[in-house]
Amino acid sequence: PKTRLILGLESSCDDTAAAVVQIDDEGRGTVLSSVVAGQTALHADFGGVVPEIAARAHAEKLDHCVEDALAEASVPLSQIDAIAVTAGPGLIGGVVSGVMCAKGLSAATGKPLYGVNHLAGHALTPRLTDNVPYPYLMLLVSGGHCQFLLVRGPESFDRLGGTIDDAPGEAFDKVARLLGLPQPGGPAIERCAETGDPNRFALPRPLLDRDGCDMSFSGLKTAVLRTRDKCVADAGGLTRQDQADLAAGFQAAVVEVLAKKTRRAFASYPADAPRGLCVAGGVAANKPIRAALEAVAAEEDAAFIAPPLALCTDNAAMIAFAAAEQSGLRSADDLTLSARPRWPL
Ligand code: KG4
Ligand code: ZN
Repeated sequence: PKTRLILGLESSCDDTAAAVVQIDDEGRGTVLSSVVAGQTALHADFGGVVPEIAARAHAEKLDHCVEDALAEASVPLSQIDAIAVTAGPGLIGGVVSGVMCAKGLSAATGKPLYGVNHLAGHALTPRLTDNVPYPYLMLLVSGGHCQFLLVRGPESFDRLGGTIDDAPGEAFDKVARLLGLPQPGGPAIERCAETGDPNRFALPRPLLDRDGCDMSFSGLKTAVLRTRDKCVADAGGLTRQDQADLAAGFQAAVVEVLAKKTRRAFASYPADAPRGLCVAGGVAANKPIRAALEAVAAEEDAAFIAPPLALCTDNAAMIAFAAAEQSGLRSADDLTLSARPRWPL
């Protein structure tokens, strides 16, 4: 195998992204460019991602992102060896926009097309950034995802468990709104919690003692809502200290659940394999969460790998690299590739 250049596209949620990744003869990836155009401002007035608005914005921005990614990498389209695109899971309008754009590029250049599972993109990122050997344990925690995966190979994932309702990032965002803190909620809660007492309010740890690695965060969010309402009813409002104590209590509950379930996930780790714990997703930026996971990894004699945040959150470099990892195991897709709103690993 020689050096290859892969163009990746991603448009499954609220980021439009394109990237060029160079794959060397040993399969190692180098990110030559990674362009991400967010849509936060477009959805700001609606309290969440509006699928129709997202789809239109993706359709408008994709070609510009591709142009920018090629220009930043100083690679003309004619030199690209393959086109990779997120084909699901995600908001279908956005996924369709990406798939259509990738098909056009593939048809125009005659280069092979690879439809990639978005979750596989996240799950394989530690191999792009840190060349982590298979197998490894992966915790994906973002605004949209929350699951434990044992990654055995480019197309071999054991799902060990995940949230049965909200993703933690979603819970951080909703709790921030309840406490009158700005969006995105994660960083706001983390900052606010620094001056809070995590033990002042008793908040639940749903499913903590349940077997397996499933998690639940929606009851925790409701408990914060009730506690807030009680503070307001008792004292006529929420003081800064109430805010900080609630933020700290909420964050401590998330930390405890993630740490305990991570410890449990290690029970599924194959004996005698090199041990690694990788994290991805925006929530992995949270310092107390990161510290707790790092401590579990140390207890479990596992290396702890957290790729740089720009590659942990949604991006197209992970899609290009995942296609390269998988290309040895499967054939390319053709113009019948379809966009899949649901696509479990
Ligand atoms: O992976 P990501 O950028 O996007 C998707 O979910 O697709 O994750 C965004 C989520 C948001 O919910 C945000 O509040 C959360 O990650 N987040 C954090 C922190 N930074 C971002 N949550 C907790 N602590 C943080 N420091
Ligand atoms: Zn994602």
